Amino acid sequence: MEQENFETLVDRAVQKRYAAAAAEKEPALCCPVTYDGKYLDVLPQELIDRDYGCGNPAEYVGEGETVLDLGSGGGKICYILSQVVGPKGQVFGVDRNDEMLALARRYQTQIAEAIGWNNTYFLKGNIQDLGLDLEALDSFLNDHPVHSYPDWQRVDQWIEQQREASPMIESDSIDVVVSNCVLNLVNPKHREQLFSEISRVLRPGGRAIISDIVSDHPVPLHLQKDPHLWSGCISGAFMEGHFLEAFKRAGLHHVEILKRQDEAWAIVEGIEFRSLTVRAEKSTSASAYEGEENRQDITDKPRDTSLTVLPDGDCCGPDSNCC
Ligand SMILES: C[S@@+](CC[C@H](N)C(=O)[O-])C[C@H]1O[C@@H](n2cnc3c(N)ncnc32)[C@H](O)[C@@H]1O
Repeated sequence: MEQENFETLVDRAVQKRYAAAAAEKEPALCCPVTYDGKYLDVLPQELIDRDYGCGNPAEYVGEGETVLDLGSGGGKICYILSQVVGPKGQVFGVDRNDEMLALARRYQTQIAEAIGWNNTYFLKGNIQDLGLDLEALDSFLNDHPVHSYPDWQRVDQWIEQQREASPMIESDSIDVVVSNCVLNLVNPKHREQLFSEISRVLRPGGRAIISDIVSDHPVPLHLQKDPHLWSGCISGAFMEGHFLEAFKRAGLHHVEILKRQDEAWAIVEGIEFRSLTVRAEKSTSASAYEGEENRQDITDKPRDTSLTVLPDGDCCGPDSNCC
């Protein structure tokens, strides 16, 4: 019971906080990161302002790739990626927050015209359940309201059939899964499924590039239960080692730290929270993947320990509550 209350609490806190943060910039949630200015020229200021990321996974993506952004928010990284991958690539952003999706979609035509192509798609879904398109579910429920147990069974069957026959994101379809400061917000009971979904949707040989917040010690329960700290990307942070292990447990390999913030950006009760960008690969074949399971190594020496903060960054100091 205690656990159920906690889960509802954090999910609601995340939903509410990011709905508000879509409407109005929330400085406490932003951690300005340096992006290549040439990709920002086509973005309206409103999207630049609604940047709630903690790294720049777009740096590690190439031309022509198909990319999936988990927790795409206002869409800034997707629109940067749209230019990076070019007209032959595709970018899918998934978020479950209606306000964030509306914000990301608002400028789609305008940005596509400025870039010269439209290769971005914003989808409504839970990142731990990439098979289910929540807009399709909304529409099904509209046509088939639930008033009884048989009604519910019909919905349940429809959901299973959707996941099987027309999943929102197909298995083995994505070259690069990226995410920027989102995994820490996911309810702990869904985290194993989250990593397994990342692995499912990646094509063999594809890779995950994830920027997120990690802690150097376990976060005690009383901090996890604080909805403000949780939705502020602090108390849901993975412990650094557990974060790396989670990729391995999902069958991904060559787990490598690409960037690790030297200085903690937040310290709460002596626990340090910092940004990490991690790369992990999906094996090129199922057999290689099984054989390698016990040999998967983690490279924990970062290639680059800098997380460059914009000079005018006013909200990412050590005392701030940003991510
Ligand atoms: C900290 S913001 C990051 C947004 C974006 N990646 C950026 O860099 O600005 C977190 C986003 O993840 C979304 N989110 C959180 N948990 C989610 C989940 N389980 N499924 C889908 N979206 C989720 C929120 O709605 C919000 O838009």
